[in-house]
Amino acid sequence: MGFTMGLNMILLLAMVATNILSLYHLSSNLQSKPPAPPPVPDHLVRQLQTIRATISHLTRLQQTSNPSTSGAKASRPKIPSDLLTYTHISPIASSCKDYPELLYQYMNYTPFSLCPSDSPLAESLILRGCHPLPRRRCFSRTTNANPTSLPTSPFGTIPDNTVNWSYYSKGNCKSFTCLAKLSPELGFDLKVEKAKFLEYKTDLDLPISQLLQLSRSSRSFIRLALDVGGGTGTFAAQMKLHNVTVITTTMNLGAPYNEAVALRGLLPLHVPLQQRLPVFDGVVDLVRCGHGVNRWIPLTAMEFLFFDVDRVLRAGGYLWLDHFFSKRLDLVKVYTPLIGKLGYKKVKWAVTNKTDSSGLKNGEVYLTALLQKPISR
Ligand SMILES: *[C@@H]1O[C@H](CO)[C@@H](O)[C@H](O)[C@H]1NC(C)=O
Ligand SMILES: *[C@@H]1O[C@H](CO)[C@@H](O)[C@H](O)[C@H]1NC(C)=O
Ligand SMILES: *[C@@H]1O[C@H](CO)[C@@H](O)[C@H](O)[C@H]1NC(C)=O
Repeated sequence: MGFTMGLNMILLLAMVATNILSLYHLSSNLQSKPPAPPPVPDHLVRQLQTIRATISHLTRLQQTSNPSTSGAKASRPKIPSDLLTYTHISPIASSCKDYPELLYQYMNYTPFSLCPSDSPLAESLILRGCHPLPRRRCFSRTTNANPTSLPTSPFGTIPDNTVNWSYYSKGNCKSFTCLAKLSPELGFDLKVEKAKFLEYKTDLDLPISQLLQLSRSSRSFIRLALDVGGGTGTFAAQMKLHNVTVITTTMNLGAPYNEAVALRGLLPLHVPLQQRLPVFDGVVDLVRCGHGVNRWIPLTAMEFLFFDVDRVLRAGGYLWLDHFFSKRLDLVKVYTPLIGKLGYKKVKWAVTNKTDSSGLKNGEVYLTALLQKPISR
């Protein structure tokens, strides 16, 4: 309906514009009766052309989105009709259209009232590359508890009561303590987290002190970093103690990761790996890719990710692949050449066997690499 209204509005505009044009002719004819009609001002012609082009574009869109006129495609799930309107209001991701059922569910809400409690639904769309999602006009659901003080340390206790636990299913946990006990791997046990990035236990480790030392010695200081797939934000937390600002991209995947990062006083970005990094070219000193970036990502997507990292890194900035894993042969045949395309200097390059059960089964290896972007190309 909104679409039809928009179309009507444009038709109205077109009518008005056409009338102005004839009025212009008429009035100039009355005034002086010149031998030839004066040329129509360029800007008026351009406006009219734009309006005509918009109308024919919208008419075409309406025809293709109308299932009754596209007989052969009638079996395809129907795209929510309002979607076209939303795309005119603000950008939405092109892959949104590949998930019409989910999208329809997401956009099925009552404007100006409380939003459905559907943040897991929004995340499942985002994970499918539907990011940005269409915007909505409803009120997000929030718990009425607020943190009562600033976090004294990013490793202090995280308050439970500001999280709506009914969204999350991991381990049936309804508290951060429960998640911490479930598995230290999840990143919620802040006593465990407090020791991370500090020690050199294997070749795969790059302690922060060493990282900062390396950057200082090449006179390439780290002020601002991006942690891709940063979980609960522990890298950002450790760097904060060194007065370095780190933005953490993190998804929730069944546990309140974004909330945890925020409650620690750090900056969470809820963006998927497919997303163009939402920072300007050459403004970041370091991008760290945690082991969320690994062989499960389609190769083409990974290549675009690496080149987007290159875009946001300043000259002399660093890309840190932290515990990247792949099959042993693929590292040699696929990933090393892919990383090589960037033309970065290998400051660190360490490969070891991945010795957990899936690593042994699949013949996987870990790579930790610190790579420096060249100063000039
Ligand atoms: C928490 O989520 C549940 C369902 O997911 C919802 O019914 C409830 O209203 C939410 N609570 C708050 C305070 O938003
Ligand atoms: C961080 O900044 C504070 C305030 O300026 C300063 O006292 C502290 O020494 C700095 N810490 C480091 C590790 O540089
Ligand atoms: C890693 O695994 C390969 C294949 O199983 C083996 O040949 C190699 O010796 C292992 N390397 C180390 C350091 O254990």
